[in-house]
Amino acid sequence: MTQNFFGPDVAARYDEQPRGDEEAAAAFLAELAQGQWALEFALGTGRIALPLAARGVQVDGIELSPHMVARLRAKPGGDQFNVTIGDMSIASTGQRYGLVYLVFNTIFNLLTADDQVRCFENATRHLSADGHFVVETTLPHAWIAPGKPDYVHAEHVASDTVVLDVARYNPVTQLLEENHVRLSAGGISLSPIICRLITPGEMDLMARIAGLRLVNRYANWQRSPFDAHSTAHVSVYRS
Ligand SMILES: C[S@@+](CC[C@H](N)C(=O)[O-])C[C@H]1O[C@@H](n2cnc3c(N)ncnc32)[C@H](O)[C@@H]1O
Repeated sequence: MTQNFFGPDVAARYDEQPRGDEEAAAAFLAELAQGQWALEFALGTGRIALPLAARGVQVDGIELSPHMVARLRAKPGGDQFNVTIGDMSIASTGQRYGLVYLVFNTIFNLLTADDQVRCFENATRHLSADGHFVVETTLPHAWIAPGKPDYVHAEHVASDTVVLDVARYNPVTQLLEENHVRLSAGGISLSPIICRLITPGEMDLMARIAGLRLVNRYANWQRSPFDAHSTAHVSVYRS
């Protein structure tokens, strides 16, 4: 069963600390869309869809959390997107697109290999004949150091609030169980999430199962070469 970790509290805080790659991602994706419509799997609050639309690309979305979509709708321009509420591994918009994209580690939010394969297959079903599917994630080894499956990171440190990222990784299931613990004068809040980490090589095999092949892989949105020092990847697939 698909779990939704993006409830009202997480949605309310989602845009407080932007990741910082929004404009670079939008520039990369707009170039690939080549004037055709785009579909974002897991559109969220429109962090990428809004700057991409500002570059003239018509964007549709599939998103599991109505709370994230409510935040999108409250933003200027947030009502311009057609959003299908559902699971990106099976939901359909009934349209085909020149670009389907899935960013910010969100393929990891599907917790079995079968669901991740189904997600690639669903991308294929939504692509036009010359369309591209873009997936962007951190590399698992950059997230979890070998031999150190547990960690605590100070994610945000301020005089009135501290946010700790507390995690445990199981290399057998490939599941990373994480909890973002927020400590402030107002109390303690917990934001749990589980991710299934997969490597670029596993994604390439999932893509092959779904009838897609890798055409480009970069280390970031600026198209830096993907090499042994890379900590993330932007992978471009097509049929
Ligand atoms: C890290 S956020 C990314 C949101 C947006 N793509 C961005 O870059 O800001 C993950 C999003 O994936 C959504 N999500 C998780 N599992 C999903 C699924 N199976 N189908 C559709 N959306 C999903 C969550 O509700 C959340 O909005």
